[in-house]
Amino acid sequence: MSKRSLPNIIVVTLMLAMILLAGCAAEPSGELEVFSWWTAGGEAEGLAAMLEVFSEQYPDIEVINATVAGGAGVDARAVLATRMQGGDPPGSFQVHAGRELIDTYVVADQMEPVTFIFEDEGWTDVYPADLIEILSYDGEIWSVPVNIHRANVLWYNKAIFADNGLTPPTSIGDFFTVAETLEAAGVTPLALGESWTVVHLFETVLLGSIGPDAYIGLWNGETDWSTTEVTQALENFNTMLNFVNEDFAALSWDQATQLVIDGTAAMNIMGDWAEGYFKAQGWTPDVEFGWAASPGSAGSFDALSDSFGLPKDAPNRDAVVAWLTVCGSKEGQDAFNPIKGSIPANTEGDRSLYDAYLQSAMDDFASDTIVPSLMHGAAAAPSWQQDIIDAVNLFIADRDVATFQDALVSAAAEAGF
Ligand code: GAL
Repeated sequence: MSKRSLPNIIVVTLMLAMILLAGCAAEPSGELEVFSWWTAGGEAEGLAAMLEVFSEQYPDIEVINATVAGGAGVDARAVLATRMQGGDPPGSFQVHAGRELIDTYVVADQMEPVTFIFEDEGWTDVYPADLIEILSYDGEIWSVPVNIHRANVLWYNKAIFADNGLTPPTSIGDFFTVAETLEAAGVTPLALGESWTVVHLFETVLLGSIGPDAYIGLWNGETDWSTTEVTQALENFNTMLNFVNEDFAALSWDQATQLVIDGTAAMNIMGDWAEGYFKAQGWTPDVEFGWAASPGSAGSFDALSDSFGLPKDAPNRDAVVAWLTVCGSKEGQDAFNPIKGSIPANTEGDRSLYDAYLQSAMDDFASDTIVPSLMHGAAAAPSWQQDIIDAVNLFIADRDVATFQDALVSAAAEAGF
């Protein structure tokens, strides 16, 4: 070995050591708590599939899959609020894109923006501009969306429809005709579940009754809640409630969907996580179950998006950033969404991995009028949403349309409209 080559070897060795060390430092490890409400059939499996992609990419991070049962996050959100208030945020938590996140933890300065992840990953061009807009506040993006769900879907048991010579109802009037036939045949026409699923049904009836432009106007002050069109929508909703299972208040959303599988009910109006549930129970789209836009709402896509955020002072921030990177990636989304029953928010998703229903949802999302979901955090600030939930709960008990409409008008006024 010549004297001159010795320093070179030392330099090269040092450089290699530095590269290795840098590599090690960049690889996050430790624990990561992922908080969500995905416990039912379809949604739990979808999350597991995305966590598997994550663990393959980050084998040194131990994931704590923290779930709080309760559809639409009704219980999880309360637990989360207590934790956030107590300065004990999970690493990352599920939250609906839009008002649900912005009006709670963003304005309270409890989140860190994730704009830098969008920039680092080159996502600004591969997410729909409208969605980025919904995720944005004060010039920053605040969460990473994993999917797009559709709320206004009517699911039906194909065998029951065939046996009764029925086709899925397109208008609200049609729905009543179909429902009467089913009732005469001894089948519950419409499967319904606990309170939040009634609110979910309500928003689809509003949309199907007054149309997308007026529906959008309800949330920005352009549609007056006191009009006779809204009264008619409330009458429609009232009549629809005559065709549901009596024990609805006691059933979770998936137990209600299960009634359609069992054949005790023929239809269910629910978001397309119900598709994930049907498939998790072994049903195949267009074989055992069919779908249509909820009555009167063809041409509208009542949209919502599940997303994950980066709380300020999140434990193990590097692991959270790694998780968010997988959440937004094509690979993460293509593992999650085909099982979850949603379409990827990342437009680079591979269409061929999605079944017939989900491909139809992709087409509809591209061509329909997109309207925001009330029950799933997109349309209204949480306080307004809660006032509407309270009004619906009272209405279930007294079925008084005039009182219901008054309460909705007051709720809008309270919200500043
Ligand atoms: C929605 C959520 C869906 C699904 C559903 C039932 O709010 O966006 O992902 O989880 O609740 O739990």
